[in-house]
Amino acid sequence: MCGIVGYVGGRDAVALILDGLRRLEYRGYDSAGVAVVSGGSLQRRRAAGKLERLAASLADEPLDGDWGIGHTRWATHGQPTEENAHPHQDCTGRIVVVHNGIIENHLELKARLAAAGHRFVTQTDTEVLAHLIESEYEGSLEQAAARALPMVRGVYALVLLHRDEPQTLVAARMGPPLVVGLSDGERFVASDVPALLHHTRDFLFLEDGDVATVRPDRVEVRTLAGATVTRSPQHVAWDAVQAEKGGYRHFMLKEIHEQPRSVRDTLAGRFSLEDGEVLLEELGPAAAGLLEASRIVLLACGTSWHAALVGKFLIEELAGLPAEVDYGSEFRYRTPLVGPGTVVVAISQSGETADTLAAFREAKSRGALPVAICNVRGSMLTREAEGSLLTHAGPEIGVASTKAFTAQLVALALLALHLGRLRGRLSPEKCRAHLSELTRIPHLMEQALHREDAIESLAGSLTRATDYLYLGRGVNYPIALEGALKLKEISYAHAEGYPAGEMKHGPIALVDDTLPVVALCPDGGVYEKMLSNVQEVKARGGRVIAVASSEGGELGALLQGSDDMILTVPSCAELWSPFLTVLPLQMLAYHVALRAGRDVDQPRNLAKSVTVE
Ligand code: F6R
Repeated sequence: MCGIVGYVGGRDAVALILDGLRRLEYRGYDSAGVAVVSGGSLQRRRAAGKLERLAASLADEPLDGDWGIGHTRWATHGQPTEENAHPHQDCTGRIVVVHNGIIENHLELKARLAAAGHRFVTQTDTEVLAHLIESEYEGSLEQAAARALPMVRGVYALVLLHRDEPQTLVAARMGPPLVVGLSDGERFVASDVPALLHHTRDFLFLEDGDVATVRPDRVEVRTLAGATVTRSPQHVAWDAVQAEKGGYRHFMLKEIHEQPRSVRDTLAGRFSLEDGEVLLEELGPAAAGLLEASRIVLLACGTSWHAALVGKFLIEELAGLPAEVDYGSEFRYRTPLVGPGTVVVAISQSGETADTLAAFREAKSRGALPVAICNVRGSMLTREAEGSLLTHAGPEIGVASTKAFTAQLVALALLALHLGRLRGRLSPEKCRAHLSELTRIPHLMEQALHREDAIESLAGSLTRATDYLYLGRGVNYPIALEGALKLKEISYAHAEGYPAGEMKHGPIALVDDTLPVVALCPDGGVYEKMLSNVQEVKARGGRVIAVASSEGGELGALLQGSDDMILTVPSCAELWSPFLTVLPLQMLAYHVALRAGRDVDQPRNLAKSVTVE
């Protein structure tokens, strides 16, 4: 939600900030703005709509500045208009602020500040920050921030500047992430590492309660109470090329095709085939706690929640341990029965999803052992976990999650196998057999991805469909949910995922010749059952798109209608089939969305990291 970039140094601040914002646009893209200072003059430019509107306005009428801040917005308070776009300023026009998060007591603060004579011109919660800092300002922006921020309730990552404090940014964090990029004679601030990879791979990760004063040659970090704290620079492994489209038309397409690599990387070094063991030393102190686990609770949102559903299946099957799955957003609004003996595994690509984090904290406070599966080292989630299993998908930029999902499946598979060995449910031989099947998966994924042409032409035949039903069973039921989510979020077609056996209890009423029914029928124990469900759809004149291990057999005989189609994926052990069945569904969503002229990487109303409740 919202991307922030700040720069201090001697170069063209507008160009550098715009470039950073472009790389953060996945965080929000409904309006954008910059404020830069040159020779003591502070100038601001904002525009409603995507960043390109701001860029066009700046190309028409350039701004000059060698330090400044910028923002790309995902609106929470106030419409995405130019007036509501960040940076926001105080009454004097000397202080400007960009903010990601929500100020919960903004109405109360606004009333107080307005009564003291401050003039408000926007509907945003952020504007109160500019006026609050103004009211506390006595010559030092850092001290004003330290006095003002304790009065603020809510979450924020923010960057401030004062026109009269040259080459100085003040950055503060309470919740959403904020990093400081370190380069020779210049410093950057950003919401996320990929924004700055072209300039540096050395970062300071700010923590909650930090107030950092950032100048071209140094960064001073203090607590809100004024105590100096040390944040050691960290060198990140991601490189700039990973955050580029690399010749693909969209990030999503590139990321779909990166999956064999990211699955391989997430598996690498984490098992010994020889010993039939999974090696998860990286779980650190949490590793010992796994031995005492009597149950696992998996917490996540969206696509990561679908990975959790697959995880439940794997953990129960391979480790014989009860596993439950909860939405981060629901967990804390009941009385969750977790405590010592429960291992709570939060799954998140970004590691900053507010709902997942809040649920994780709740489980932790009740005595559960907190473990994270996450794609971002140093994220809030990994910092709050006792042990983390990192996925090595690399930066995921497309708003629709793809490679992070399959990498999460790898982490869950390894965790389930590890628990199975720890609990004596799996012998080394059995574990070895599962692992050697798992190591074949990246290669099989490559084969599955070669079948994109068929999917592209299928998408061409679906231009009139407005509703879809996705059906799956067992370990592929979550993949039906995921396929439906992918389609709706990027094509805006309505799609529902359902356990195939439940179809007869209601959704079957939807079936007619206008409703494409996507049925997941890979080889395995529920293949016959899926065949029956496909038959039920055909008997009612429905159109079936099946994902299966072969075009022949009974399924082939059933689906001979000109409108039906079988998308084949290589055959593999049923447990690992989600790695393959999800691929045609991702590609289908992509090509349907492309045909519909949608903005695949930046679908409407969405943002990549949901850092508000
Ligand atoms: C869908 C999608 C979202 C995220 C969800 C959780 O394609 O990307 O549903 O999966 O917002 O995000 P993370 O995994 O970052 O916690």
